[in-house]
Amino acid sequence: MEKAKLEEFNHWWTSKKVDTELALPFKRDIYPEIEKHLDKRFILALVGLRRVGKTTIMYQLIQKLVEANINKTNILFFSFDEISVKLNKVLETYKEIHSKDIRAEKIYIFLDEIQKCEGWENELKKYYDLYPKLKFIISGSESLFIRKKTKETLAGRIFEFTLAPFTFMEYLRFNKVEENEFKYETKIKPFFNKFAEKGGFPETFSFETDKDFKEYIQALVVDKIVYKDIPRMFKLEDPDFLKVLLELISTNPGMYIDYQSLSKQFEKDRRVIKNYINYLKESFLITLLGNYRKGSITTLRKKKRAYPTDNALTYLYKPKIEEDFFGRMIETLAVNKLKALSFWKNRGEIDIVYEDIPIEVKYQEKINSEDFKTLKEFMKKFNKKEGMLLTKNEEKEIKFEEGIIKLIPFWKWLLE
Ligand SMILES: Nc1ncnc2c1ncn2[C@@H]1O[C@H](COP(=O)(O)OP(=O)(O)OP(=O)(O)O)[C@@H](O)[C@H]1O
Ligand SMILES: [Mg+2]
Repeated sequence: MEKAKLEEFNHWWTSKKVDTELALPFKRDIYPEIEKHLDKRFILALVGLRRVGKTTIMYQLIQKLVEANINKTNILFFSFDEISVKLNKVLETYKEIHSKDIRAEKIYIFLDEIQKCEGWENELKKYYDLYPKLKFIISGSESLFIRKKTKETLAGRIFEFTLAPFTFMEYLRFNKVEENEFKYETKIKPFFNKFAEKGGFPETFSFETDKDFKEYIQALVVDKIVYKDIPRMFKLEDPDFLKVLLELISTNPGMYIDYQSLSKQFEKDRRVIKNYINYLKESFLITLLGNYRKGSITTLRKKKRAYPTDNALTYLYKPKIEEDFFGRMIETLAVNKLKALSFWKNRGEIDIVYEDIPIEVKYQEKINSEDFKTLKEFMKKFNKKEGMLLTKNEEKEIKFEEGIIKLIPFWKWLLE
């Protein structure tokens, strides 16, 4: 590998600081937690959907090390994004440039898009076990543990953070809305409506037109994952079909996944549908919820419900967002905020069961007594004394025979 290439990646070897266009000043809420892991021996892994800010956090960490007066040549960054090369070649080139003894010196090694490096698991394991002073920080835009092999090879050596698109709280902070200004009608509402519709991809916040927005999400998120990332990991006959499924789920957030009927509808084998849905999940484009059962997270056999992981995906495919449909997008926000795993369906339906608490989203002008029915049914059946109803405006607690139901305005809850 060329020395010049590696030097290009590591401009702090010769300059005073990390380029502020790379180490952006705005820090995610999770950043301090990640930074704490810089001193631990574990491999620190950042994974998550495309374009959410993984590489940016790596540069912010590098900036932090530089500020802490770590010898700048002891910080190595490399991205496997465009160059196909083995890890040992990268390290050899590094050693040639700086003549470091990697056994004796503490060196911070940042490896971006590591999933593109063939056989990285074994190589990394080798370095990790042989050179305890090396600190690896890696990132990937797919769940790095899709493959059983990763689990087996790196189990116990790696600590993984999953990054999601910006939260509403981060979105407000990014837009310089201070916490003492949290007045809904005057301050929050316009931001809330925009965030709920268009989601949390930071680069899109400044886009002026729908065209720019949609082109960006299509090209840099959807197409990149569907045509590049997923086919690299799995043999796929029909990547276009991934997009068909993604569009279906994004325009029907919360839809029940019925493999049988999807199989008929698209004339594809059930297993194919199942695999494709799983690929979308593993690349963080969709999330799946299972039917709640006490004592276990989900039931295996019952149908799952699927949501896009960000409303930007819904906005991409939906020509017009109607008032009614907006409520569904609000529900998607709730699911993604909680990283919810379960819903509950009996006669009625509970949107989310989170830590055994039933949560219903009713984004409507008025709450009626009917709206408590299923919550009460759940509370009775599972002997839970607490339920939650996320509303448009109403805020109060109501005592029922079954227990207490808290009504909380959605935007407020989102900022909790
Ligand atoms: N902390 C931040 N503050 C402001 N903007 C940000 C921040 N993080 C990311 N962005 C914006 O989002 C864009 C994508 O960020 P970044 O390249 O870090 O994402 P990524 O997760 O590495 O994406 P990919 O998976 O495609 O490599 C950046 O170019 C920047 O415009
Ligand atoms: Mg990146």
